[in-house]
Parts: sequence; structure tokens; C-alpha cells
Amino acid sequence: MDLALITVAFVLSLGTSSFAYNYTFPEGFLFGTATSAYQVEGAWIEGGKGENIWDRLTHERPDLILDQSNGDVACDSYHKYKEDVAMCVELGVQFYRFSISWPRIYPHGFSYNLNKEGLLYYSKLVDELLANGIIPVATIYHWDIPQALQDLGGWTNPLVVNHFVEYARVLFDNLGDRIKYWITINEPSQICQEGYGNMDKAPALNLSGIADYLCGHNLLKAHAAVYHLYNDTYRESQNGTVGFTINGVWYEGNSTYDDDAAERMMQMYFGWWAHPIFSSQGDYPPVMKTFVARKSAAQGYRRSRLPEFTPEEIEYIKGTADFMGLNFYTARKAKGAEYDGLEVSYSNDHQVESWIDRDWPMTIAPWFGINPLGFRKHLNWIKERYNSPDIYITENGYPDAGEIDDFDRIDYYREHLKAMLDAIYEDNVNVRGYTAWSLMDNFEWMFGYAHRFGLYYVDLTDPQRPRTPKRSALYYKEIVRTRQLTYEKLK
Ligand code: NOJ
Repeated sequence: MDLALITVAFVLSLGTSSFAYNYTFPEGFLFGTATSAYQVEGAWIEGGKGENIWDRLTHERPDLILDQSNGDVACDSYHKYKEDVAMCVELGVQFYRFSISWPRIYPHGFSYNLNKEGLLYYSKLVDELLANGIIPVATIYHWDIPQALQDLGGWTNPLVVNHFVEYARVLFDNLGDRIKYWITINEPSQICQEGYGNMDKAPALNLSGIADYLCGHNLLKAHAAVYHLYNDTYRESQNGTVGFTINGVWYEGNSTYDDDAAERMMQMYFGWWAHPIFSSQGDYPPVMKTFVARKSAAQGYRRSRLPEFTPEEIEYIKGTADFMGLNFYTARKAKGAEYDGLEVSYSNDHQVESWIDRDWPMTIAPWFGINPLGFRKHLNWIKERYNSPDIYITENGYPDAGEIDDFDRIDYYREHLKAMLDAIYEDNVNVRGYTAWSLMDNFEWMFGYAHRFGLYYVDLTDPQRPRTPKRSALYYKEIVRTRQLTYEKLK
């Protein structure tokens, strides 16, 4: 090519990001895939495991689950974990993110009866991953608190902090020699707001505006305590890294007034968790403190329903993450709203109404409209507010009814990976890795097995639970192999 042509090509490349970085992933960027214990393991009452809140909810209230199913057997990963690892090998991913079931380790949550069989299961899974050159990434809590602790209030009981620390300690002691990536807690909003505030998750307490805030308060302290435990006792010898994963929904307004509401929603949905840990000031977002306090006072409360951290607690929680885990799926439009002044609820506190824009394509899931640009915007929002932390995308994926020729899922992955690459190259956001949710179809909480996110199809009518790669598995495999987004080719 002569110089003139090269110049023309270069000038053209400035106009569109597609030429600027050629959709190539940065050096050292990690690819992975993920599952969680309750969603895939099954063996709910095997190997010494205790009952958790999802066992209880699905057994007592099957009517709350779209197809009345449960995780009793799920994908049977408790017995088929070697097949799961073989699928990761086939995909060529660098890491596998799984979660550890608390009641498999401590069946009742209390630290007096360690279930060695449960520990052995995870030890074998980790060994199998390492033997195949795959990095284990372990989530310590992915929504399955032991029922015995729930009977004492679960995450609303301040003593949960001590129980969580003892549970984490036994994991660091026994698995920390081999696990170098830890995520303390997955998606606090879903745990507290959806599980304690309403009935979208177990334990379905439905005490919005009270139990959700108590849950969050203890959860943040429990996370920080585990981070400090790692720092003080294990970091030097084990040399790992500890993060915290938050679900991001990109809220956006249409007018200046609505932009205020959208920002408030970002703060009260995402900042609720990110501000105490990742901001330089620490503590809950100021706007959240103001709004909950104001509404509480108007309702006759003597103090805000949002508990207060002491100055020491603010310092103790601040900075307790080596990286931020971001789960991203969807976006919403937002505008300010005036809800009934007397009702005690999280939505009455934030005073924001939100909805899915009619122009965004929908998925099978009612909560899920597609907006890849929202992903890029959310990443920028994080960068600006929290001093550009290291981010791992710990989940991103697409639900359908279980098609093998899942071209819509491929579109979703391609568009979101492109939005992420734009954020990395054009906006300098520090994204270090990406996780496709999920390795295989699994128990999608209140939607049972009706909504499927897998790269692999799982036949749930067959006791062997055979797994079959979907088109998207082949697509993801190609991206991981070439380390390039085959954007035009596969469109
Ligand atoms: C986030 C949760 O962590 C995961 O368990 C769930 O299956 C996905 N979102 C999809 O809803």
C-alpha cells in the first residue's frame, strides 16, 4: 500500500470506532463464563448440605415460580461438574465463575459443624479447573443463605456478619491456596430489595423501605469484614484478589428534570452499594440519605429508616474491594414521580418512575429490554464517579425459551461486547474481563427453567441432564480464540 492510501485509511478510521481498534480485545483481557450453586448444583439434600432459603421458598411456595419448578436437581452439577469443566475447556475460556453454597459448608450457618463433604466437592471442582488450565473465580454468596440463619432474620440480623466471616474463613483456609479471585457477594440489590423488600426473590419478605435497608446495612458490613479478614490474614500468603459484584441497570431520562430523577435512581440503585465501597467519601450516597430521611420524617418516624453508619464504619467499609464486578443486562427510562406519602417503601423513598422504552427490543423476560449503548454509558458513569476502578463484567447474557439456533443471543453478545470495547478504547474505562452468563441453561429464580440464558442447552426432561452447545457457544468460542469481535463477518 502506498503512503497516500495508508493516509486515506487512517483518516477514514478516525470516523468510526470499527477501524480504530479493529474490535480486538486488549492484551491480558480475560474471558469467562459463569453459574451459581443453587441454579446448577441440584443435590439439594445430599452430601450433608443444609436447607437454604431457595429450598424453602420453592418447596413451600411453588406457585411463586413461573413453572412451579425448583433447584432440587437442576443441572445436577454436583455430580456432573467434570462435564461442566469440559464445556469450559471446549469454549476455551480463561476462567469459570461459580458460587459456593453456604449450607453445603455450614449446613445451619453456624460455624460449629463443618461439612467436610461439601468442602471436598468444591475442592475437587477447583482441582479439575486448574488441571485444565482454567482460573477458578468463586462467589462466596450467591443468594442461598442457610434457612436456619433466615429463621433468625437472615441478612437483617446484625449477627449475620460474624457468621459470614466464619464461613469465608473456612473457604480461605481450605481453598485459598488455589482460588485467587474471590467475589464476596453477588448483586446486593437483588438480595435485599427484591428478597427482603418485596417478593421477587427468596426469602420474599415483602417489607419494603425497612427490611431492604437493614439487609443492605449488614450486608455491606459483612462484605467489608470478609475483605479485612482476607487482607489481614491471607493476602500475604495467598496473594489473591477480592471484589464485590453489583447489578447495573442504566437509568436514563429525557429532559433535564428527568435527568435528575435518573441520576437519583442510579445513586439509589447502584450507588447504594458502590458509594460506601468505591467512592472516596464512603457512606451511602448523599441523595439517598436525604430522600429516605425526608420521607421517614414525613411519615412520623423519629429517625430515618435508612440506618446510619458511624464514622468508624464508614472508614472500615471504604475501599474494601480490589475490583468492581458489574453484572449488566438492561436499561430503563426514568422520570420523577410523586408516590403516596404514607406508604413505606423503597419506591416511595426514591420517587422515580421507570419503564422500558418502547423502541428497545424486548426479550422473553418482562424486566429485560435491550439497550447496548446503556452498557457503555453505565461503564462511563462508574468511571467518573468512582475514580476509574478496575472492572470485571461478572455477568452479561440473554434469555430465551431455549433455542439451539440462538441467533438473537449472538446479536446480544456482539452488540454488548462492541459497546464494552468502545468503552475501553474510546472512553478509557478500565474493563479487565468479561463473563458470559451463563455456561448452561439453569434455574432462573422466579422464572424457573422457562427463561434460559445458557451457551449450552440442558435437557431437563432427561435424568442425565445432557448438555448441547448452542450456536452462541460456537460464536463465543470463536471470539475467545481469535480475541477479536467478528463484528461484520457474523452479522
Ligand atoms: C443475575 C444473577 O446473578 C443470576 O443469578 C441470574 O441468573 C441472572 N442475573 C439473570 O437474571
